[in-house]
Amino acid sequence: MSSSPPDLSGRHVVLGVTGSIAAYKAASLVRLLKKASAEVQVLMTPDAERFVSSLTLGTLSEGDVLTEVFPDDEDGSWTKHVTLGQWADLFVVAPATAQTIAKLAHGFCDSMLTATALSARCPVLVCPAMDRDMYRHEATQANLERLREIGYDVMPAAHGELASGLVGKGRMPEPEAIRDRVASMVDETPSAGERSSSGGENSLAGTEVLVTAGPTQEPLDPVRVLTNPSTGTMGYVLAEAAARRGGSVTLVTGPTSLSPPSDAEVVQVQTAEEMNEAVQARREEAELVFMAAAVADYAPANPSSTKRKKDDHDLVLHLRRTPDILKALGENKRPDQVLVGFALETDDELENARRKLEEKNLDWIALNNPTEEGSGFGPSTNRVTLLRRGGSAEELPRMPKTEVAEALLDRVTAARQAEGS
Ligand code: C5P
Repeated sequence: MSSSPPDLSGRHVVLGVTGSIAAYKAASLVRLLKKASAEVQVLMTPDAERFVSSLTLGTLSEGDVLTEVFPDDEDGSWTKHVTLGQWADLFVVAPATAQTIAKLAHGFCDSMLTATALSARCPVLVCPAMDRDMYRHEATQANLERLREIGYDVMPAAHGELASGLVGKGRMPEPEAIRDRVASMVDETPSAGERSSSGGENSLAGTEVLVTAGPTQEPLDPVRVLTNPSTGTMGYVLAEAAARRGGSVTLVTGPTSLSPPSDAEVVQVQTAEEMNEAVQARREEAELVFMAAAVADYAPANPSSTKRKKDDHDLVLHLRRTPDILKALGENKRPDQVLVGFALETDDELENARRKLEEKNLDWIALNNPTEEGSGFGPSTNRVTLLRRGGSAEELPRMPKTEVAEALLDRVTAARQAEGS
């Protein structure tokens, strides 16, 4: 057991309290967070007020407790959920009822708590509390799984006596355990202040950003291609995040089913050769380059102009190497240009990524392992290790790709500012 409380000074915690009998324990949690010197903003659902008073939580947190998105008695500021979402270093929902968990899993925003959760750009911790059979129910478990998929951290409910008299799993984890989880999550993320100093709205104003995304398709004949399962998500969210920060963004994308970001110039390509041409044509003006595309390394050497007929023999393909787009950029890199590559590795990950960083003359490489659950192709989350040239490796926790994009931009922008370019 840790004797001294963690230090959360300067950290902003939004605590969402929902309508469960365990809401009375939220008072102890607020107290523990305040003792650790965190700044705490409490949000309550209307039902939570049946279990614990906003006066109690407001007094302990030393601030107003918010419940409604549209307050009728205040200054008419209905955008508070957005500012709070940006202010928060961590969003904790404790206790989280089955109802609120369902709403969070499906993107409902009918209260200050749920609307702020949708706006939050920080990690979210959910601490379920409900009766045994509600917790066990397939619907609740599916909703909790959905929350994990979108990158939320879910603490399992504790086993013990429940308010109904039943015994089983469903108790809210103890406030001390929640406080400790908060401290370790907060440790792993930059504060909102750090995020906005390097990643503010206009931190990329006037910067030319080039992003590649998606798979390439290499035709075998007019109706068949060699390709891979890349969805393009990582590159698209990076392009969107860079544009939000004021960058002038060009997205060169292979075929995907994603909607193109509205604030970027989008260049659609099919093959590695076409992607190479599009990138080389924009090489001169690009200041930040993110190569998130899963470019095919080989393409059929002699694609047929008509559909290949099948016969009774095996088909042997002759494949030729495609251009290594990023390597060519690295060979011609200007000193003020920042090159960021992605490495999808299944073995000797760190070693291979570090080698690519050197060989391709990159400034950063984001490593992920497609065989690890919640990473790589497909899932909306990713677990990335960031390697900087000449620097150490930073392992980011598993989080939504949108947050990986923000973290990547934060690091790259901060390093660029520090180098004065
Ligand atoms: O395929 P590889 O692991 O070498 O990919 C590492 C980085 O190089 C990625 O950022 C990828 O977009 C880029 N790449 C490229 N052209 C290729 C192959 C990979 O730009 N032909």
